[in-house]
Amino acid sequence: MGKQILGIDIGGTGIKLGITDIESGKLITERFKYLTPKPATPDAVVSVIKKAINEKFEDYSGPIGCGFPAIIKDGVAHSATNVDQSWFKLDIENFLKQELNTEVFVANDADVAGFAEINYGSEEIKDKGLIIFLTVGTGIGSALFYDGVMIPNSELGHLWYKDDIYEKHVSNVARKRDDIKWSEWGQRFNTYLKHLDRLFSPKMVIIGGGISKKFHKYSEEFDVEFKVIPASLKNEAGVVGASVYAYSKFEG
Ligand code: BGC
Repeated sequence: MGKQILGIDIGGTGIKLGITDIESGKLITERFKYLTPKPATPDAVVSVIKKAINEKFEDYSGPIGCGFPAIIKDGVAHSATNVDQSWFKLDIENFLKQELNTEVFVANDADVAGFAEINYGSEEIKDKGLIIFLTVGTGIGSALFYDGVMIPNSELGHLWYKDDIYEKHVSNVARKRDDIKWSEWGQRFNTYLKHLDRLFSPKMVIIGGGISKKFHKYSEEFDVEFKVIPASLKNEAGVVGASVYAYSKFEG
């Protein structure tokens, strides 16, 4: 197998695709974005993926890695919080394998994005210990790494907060919905970080997702014992992570 793998990041608004060079962790193609169909049923999503592959990656025949926003155990979805209910209990890995006619490896979107950051991110991440990667967007995705080993499906955005879950209060969608300043959002997020500290005592938290680019606007509000840094891979982490995850699985 070549070391250039197609990665797909399936999200609530967009489906992003690109080929990653595994050695460097860099995309060797553009990162193409297609709109997620509404409703985003498995059949509708797979037809967008097929169209994208036909249009942009016609010559690609290797394995495919895929990040999906749900709990994924052995390729099967065990939740469907921000996605169409018809994904629940679906064996996504097998479904995509049959539809796309190649080997497909599926994992939680935040897990694969965190996997990319751990493998290719800044040197300070190479420290040993517990690292929590959070991707902040529509929801809050999380990935846990201990000494570089991933503990999948952590779903730390679903910790209980007041009468709901944290992601409804501290996601980027919540910031826009409540029309609050970055500083106020930073204070909210600080409460969340403190909660994570009580439960996990992490060595470091990495903030990913679109919001990582605005880190300077809210990070002054953080008052926690551990280091908090913005992700270094930015937008491409989901796609790169999906590729590198597939590579690691395929290689066994
Ligand atoms: C989902 C997670 C996902 C995160 C980011 C949450 O709502 O439950 O599985 O990782 O959103 O997409």
